[in-house]
Amino acid sequence: DVEKAVVAAEEAFKTWSLAEPSYRGNLMLKLADKIEANAELLASIESNDNGKALALARGDVALVAKVIRYYGGWADKIYGTTIDTNDGFFTYTRREPLGVCGQIIPWNFPLLMWSWKIGPALATGNTIVMKTAESTPLSALVASEYAKDVGIPPGVINILSGYGPTGAQIAKHMRIKKVAFTGSTATGRKIMEMAAGSNLKKVTLELGGKSPHIIFNDADLDTAVDVASLGIFYNSGEVCSAGSRLYVQEEVYDEVIERLKAKAEAIPVGDPFNLETFQGAQTSKQQLDKILGYIKVGKEEGARVVTGGERLDRPGYFVAPTIFADVNENMRIVKEEIFGPVITATKFKTVDEVVKLANNTEYGLGAGLHTTDINKAIDVSNKIHSGSVWVNTYNAFHESVPFGGFNQSGMGREMGQQGLDNYTQVKAVRMKIEPKHWLALI
Ligand code: NAI
Ligand code: MG
Repeated sequence: DVEKAVVAAEEAFKTWSLAEPSYRGNLMLKLADKIEANAELLASIESNDNGKALALARGDVALVAKVIRYYGGWADKIYGTTIDTNDGFFTYTRREPLGVCGQIIPWNFPLLMWSWKIGPALATGNTIVMKTAESTPLSALVASEYAKDVGIPPGVINILSGYGPTGAQIAKHMRIKKVAFTGSTATGRKIMEMAAGSNLKKVTLELGGKSPHIIFNDADLDTAVDVASLGIFYNSGEVCSAGSRLYVQEEVYDEVIERLKAKAEAIPVGDPFNLETFQGAQTSKQQLDKILGYIKVGKEEGARVVTGGERLDRPGYFVAPTIFADVNENMRIVKEEIFGPVITATKFKTVDEVVKLANNTEYGLGAGLHTTDINKAIDVSNKIHSGSVWVNTYNAFHESVPFGGFNQSGMGREMGQQGLDNYTQVKAVRMKIEPKHWLALI
C-alpha cells in the first residue's frame, strides 16, 4: 500500500508542483471552508475515536480550519531572492518543493496533526503519503475526502491507516524525500535511523516533553492556578507540551497547591459527549495502563498524592486528575513523560534555582511562567531551553507562530512561516552574463 501511495503521489507531483500557486491556495481555502461547514461531524468523529471531550474537539476542528486557511494564504507568497554579486553573474534562488513527503501522525490531536502536516506541504507544491495513528484513523480519512470534493487532485493526498510497521515503510522508502513525524521520542529516534539507513531523506520530528510551569511569588494567583490546571489537564493530559512539572516559589507554594487541588477536584470527568465534560477518557487501554503505572511508581518513590492518584471506578478509561507534591528531581515521575492528567509540584526559592530546575530535562518543548514583573518574564524566558515559552498563559498555540522542540523534543518547526522551510529546498542559479560591465572597473 505504501508503494501504491508513493506511485500515486509521484504522478500527482508532476502537475501539482507546477500548478500556479494561487490555484493551490484557492483549493486550500475551499478545503478550510468545507471543514468549517462540517465541523460538528468532524468533532464528533474525533471524540469518538480519541475519547476526548466534544467541547475540546470542537476547538481542535476550529483550529484545523485556521491552519489550512493560513497555509493556503502562503501558497502564492513563497519567494526566492536575487543576490547581487556584481562579478559577471546573475544569481537567484528558488524555493522548490521536495517531492513526495511522508508524514506520520499520533492519536492525541489526530485532525489537528493532519492539518499541521498537510498545510505547509500542500502550499509549497509537495504531494503527501501520510500514515495516521492506528487508534484514531477516521477524521483524517473524512477530511481528506473533503480535499477531493473541493478539487484537490487525486494522488496529492494519500492516507494510509496502519500500525508502526507501515510508518517504518515510509521512513525507509527510497523515493520519499522527507519524513515529518509527531509522536514519542523513542519512535522518532527510529525514524531518524531509518532515514539515515535508506536515502537520507530530510527529517523533522515533534516529540515528547516534560515541560516546566513556573509560578513566582508575584504572580496573579487566580490566573496562574487556572492556567496551571489547564496546562496539565487539558485534553486529559495527552498533550506533548503539557505543563507537567509545576514549580512554585516558596511564599505562595502552600496556597497554590491548595487552590490547584480544589480546581483538579472540580474538573468534570466523564462521557466525552456530555457538553459539561472537560476531561474525557484516556485514549486507549495502553495509555491508561501507562498512566496508572506511573502513578504507582510515584507513590513507591515517596511522592505525596495531594489529590487523585487512581483510576475512577466506572466503565471506561478515566483517571482522576492527579497532583503529586514533595517530589524531587530524581524521581521518574519528574523526569519521564506520563502523557496523562498527572502533575508534580516542587517548591523553589530563587530565580536562578528555578531556571536550573526547569532546564534539568532531556526535553525542551514548552514552558510556562507566571509573574507580574516584565523584566523577570523576559529574563527567565530567555534562559529556558525550550521551543515555546508562554508567559501568564499556557499552550497558547497560533497558526502563525512556530512550534517545536529544543533538545530531544525534536527538530524543525511547524506552523508559522518557519513551517514552510521544512517543505522547500533552495536552488541557487548562477548565470554568466555579457557584456562584462564589471570588468571596466577593475
Ligand atoms: P508512537 O510514537 O509509537 O506513535 C506515533 C505514531 O508513530 C503512530 O502513528 C504510530 O503508528 C507510528 N509508529 C509507531 N512505531 C513506528 C515505527 N517503528 N516506525 C514508524 N512509525 C511508527 O507513540 P505511542 O506508542 O502511540 O505512544 C507512546 C508514548 O509516546 C505516549 O505515552 C506519549 O508519551 C508519547 N506520544 C507523544 C506524542 C506527542 O504529541 N509528542 C503523541 C503520541 C505519543
Ligand atoms: Mg509506540
